[in-house]
Amino acid sequence: MQQLGNVLIRADLNVPIEDGKVLDNFRIERSSKVVSLIRDRSKTITFISHLGRPEKKTLKNSLSQIVVDLEEHLAEKVTFIDEIYGEKVSEAINESNRFKIFLLENIRFDKGEVSNDIYFSKNIASPFDTYIFDAFGASHREHSSVVSIGEHLKSFQGPLVDEEISELNQLKNPTVNPYMIILGGSKVSDKISLINNFLPKVDKMLIGGAMCFTFLKSMGHNIGRSLYQEEMLEECEKIINGEYFNKVLLPVDIGVTDNLVGSKRKDVSIESISDADIGIDIGPNTVNSFLKELTRAKLIFWNGPMGVFENSSFNFGTMALSKALTEYKGYTVVGGGDSVNAIKLFSDVSLYNFVSTGGGASLEFLQGNNLPGLGRYPSLEDSL
Ligand code: 3PG
Repeated sequence: MQQLGNVLIRADLNVPIEDGKVLDNFRIERSSKVVSLIRDRSKTITFISHLGRPEKKTLKNSLSQIVVDLEEHLAEKVTFIDEIYGEKVSEAINESNRFKIFLLENIRFDKGEVSNDIYFSKNIASPFDTYIFDAFGASHREHSSVVSIGEHLKSFQGPLVDEEISELNQLKNPTVNPYMIILGGSKVSDKISLINNFLPKVDKMLIGGAMCFTFLKSMGHNIGRSLYQEEMLEECEKIINGEYFNKVLLPVDIGVTDNLVGSKRKDVSIESISDADIGIDIGPNTVNSFLKELTRAKLIFWNGPMGVFENSSFNFGTMALSKALTEYKGYTVVGGGDSVNAIKLFSDVSLYNFVSTGGGASLEFLQGNNLPGLGRYPSLEDSL
């Protein structure tokens, strides 16, 4: 049996926190699983992660806030060390004469992480024997903890990353149909490569969220004061005039308001949007037309909410799809930070076949980009 010594695990523990409380512990739960695989072979286990994109060291971005949640998921005590490397870390690791789990401070508190500083990487690696890269959500970043700490240690790719790759690969190379993709969120620009790469592969692509307004505008509809991307009109036009446009399903009605901070909502057909209207959700007829298509799907991928789901007057579309998808027989995968937050609000996440921990990383992976953190090291599960 391979002994791993002092193990450093790079996880993605970047979770939403408000007033010191973790709002959604999905990533913590998924990141905890690796421990049961290696507990018996490790002297100590230490987690390292980023939290947010801090400019400087503040309590708001301190990983100390997640200790309780991590302990709950591991069912073990976790000792927090308010440093990333140095004597305090080395002493804690080396002086430990029994198995212990540690959590280090936010790795982005040091600029060396983002700049991929070689000395920073060496310093972090110094007290450890083994490195496990299990942060799929950060695998698209060329950061120290993604690409260089592992160069100094015996390193493995963690089980969370393996599972993400295998699940998302199914979406890239589908073996079943009908295959449908639901896209939402605000920006067409974030998803244009995904749209273009996947249109030939899918049976239907359902587009809601604010990104539908760039499409509707490029088709000549009045979208009032709805959010859209001027610079993406041409790209949308190409899709509309392209050979796959018959696969694209756009909203037929929209929930609109004249005041984003209020709660007044009205549903209008896309032909009746007035100059004062701001589109904030897909309408009930659109939900019906989307659900009618989705009922026959065998494989569904959903990325991006259908509207401003945080406001209870504007969450109808996202809520309806979340609930309906958990009842479908087809294989359902959800990806992207906002989509996960949304489905957690309205449905039981465990009823989906797979929910990705990646936001930008899942999108980049699906778009076919090479992610620097993936495939660097042998799989831990295969190596044990
Ligand atoms: C995410 O939330 O998608 C990951 O944790 C990566 O965070 P980043 O976009 O700040 O690198």
